[in-house]
Amino acid sequence: MSSQPKPHILFTGQEIAATVSRLAAEISQDYHDKHPLLLGILKGSFMFMADLIRHLDFPLEVDFIRLSSYGRGSQTSGKVKVVQGLSSPIEDRDVLVIEDIVDTGLTISFLLDYLRKKRPASLKLCVLTDKPSRRQVPVAIDYLGFSVPDKFIVGYGIDWSEKFRNLPDIGFIEMED
Ligand code: IMP
Repeated sequence: MSSQPKPHILFTGQEIAATVSRLAAEISQDYHDKHPLLLGILKGSFMFMADLIRHLDFPLEVDFIRLSSYGRGSQTSGKVKVVQGLSSPIEDRDVLVIEDIVDTGLTISFLLDYLRKKRPASLKLCVLTDKPSRRQVPVAIDYLGFSVPDKFIVGYGIDWSEKFRNLPDIGFIEMED
């Protein structure tokens, strides 16, 4: 078995649960009468989405979209494309995008532009972890879980070369450049 770096924990599963429930309360207040579409970005948002919607006690729908991003390395290419698209139209829907991490902002900006062209009634963004120090393009985050340092984040669905998604905590690993 190949060795892998040991993550340094930033937020425990318990802290994440409290944050997810805080986000759910904010979202409930704004969306309880809107029958929104929650749109998760694969793969990283699957765990966050699953925990978040269990707190939302009103009618909603869920969809997922998959974008190309880092591939198997750790640096963004800046080039984004839709690998797996929406399964139903979003025209006139209240769409809430659920993202695991915003780094340079290139991926999410591309997605928001792509979605805006499909004329949703509203479009908002919920992000679990944000690395503001790395931003290359401005991104307006409507619901934010955690701000994180400029480190390579893993855990709670977020991967490093497909590893660590199953970690119940959020941590970082030291990257050797
Ligand atoms: P951005 O386009 O630079 O904002 O990067 C967004 C995407 O890159 C995220 O959806 C992740 O897939 C990936 N990413 C960025 N930073 C990290 C990190 O620290 N850990 C794991 N994936 C990351």
